[in-house]
Amino acid sequence: MGEISKVGVVGCGLMGSGIAEVCARAGLDVLVGEINAEAAAAGKARVTASLDRGVRSGKLSEDDRDTALSRLTFTSDLGDFTDRRLVIEAVAEQLEVKTATLTTLDKVLESPEAIIASNTSSIPIMELAALTERPDHVVGVHFFNPVPVQKLVEIIPTQLTSDDVVERATAFVTTRLGKTAIRARDRSGFVVNALLVPYLISAVRMLESGTASAEDIDSGMVLGCAHPMGPLRLLDLIGLDTAQSVAESMYEEFKEPLYAPPPLLRRMVAAGTLGRKTGRGFYIYDG
Ligand code: 3HC
Repeated sequence: MGEISKVGVVGCGLMGSGIAEVCARAGLDVLVGEINAEAAAAGKARVTASLDRGVRSGKLSEDDRDTALSRLTFTSDLGDFTDRRLVIEAVAEQLEVKTATLTTLDKVLESPEAIIASNTSSIPIMELAALTERPDHVVGVHFFNPVPVQKLVEIIPTQLTSDDVVERATAFVTTRLGKTAIRARDRSGFVVNALLVPYLISAVRMLESGTASAEDIDSGMVLGCAHPMGPLRLLDLIGLDTAQSVAESMYEEFKEPLYAPPPLLRRMVAAGTLGRKTGRGFYIYDG
């Protein structure tokens, strides 16, 4: 079947740009899709900024950065993805957006062996697989933010994913990308978000109830439990809209109150204070 060398990434936001970057740095030919030329340019700027950061911190030479950039091609036409052997979709965490992406990819991918991987945080993979004519070639491949830093990838097969596809997807993320893979069943939240999201939204409830300030809640977990960042700062990193969508999917799946997004989170999303990406969330960010 041959090793996967031509990869596609659809969606070049926070997660997609990180996935595209690690694929390019691993020596792959990477085609990146966005909805229009403006979004594609913004995606390219995001990847370039992250590679520049690598150069500044001494982790990457200027040559390596330029080589990685030369392996990336940006397009706003999913019709260009025909020759890809693996496409990872990382579009917005909304079922309509995922549906449009999956159905188009299913039509355009020429190789019957091509794999469609979804980086969804919480939408059931089976729901996405069922949109395609190749449900046995659809698998969840869930990365963590920031993708160049976090070592983990969750691999989520459905009842219909073929064993060969699971093996190829796992080999790709471990051998090609150097990540560590864990396998999870196709249940909303998989392993990590199922544990993380109730914790994060408990911190929002704690802030909302006036138990402590945002700074003290975060310091509590950083200094008391050696977390790299506190839950509210982590929510700002993930994006409050994404966190809300993930929590909603999990609530929809399990109907457990612990997954229900609290009012403060909803109001902050409605206000457009989505965290780092908008410059304001639980904290204010300059530049
Ligand atoms: N891209 C590339 N590298 C980055 C980066 C980025 N966006 N952000 C930080 N780094 C690198 C830095 O270059 C630095 O590398 P070095 O030590 O070799 O110089 C290293 O990471 C540490 O960065 P900083 O010193 O700038 O900052 P911190 O030490 O505060 O680390 C952090 C930042 C890596 C974000 C760290 O705080 C962390 O790991 N936080 C937890 C993140 C987390 O939990 N992510 C999972 C979110 S859940 C998720 O993604 C699932 C989804 O479905 C919701």
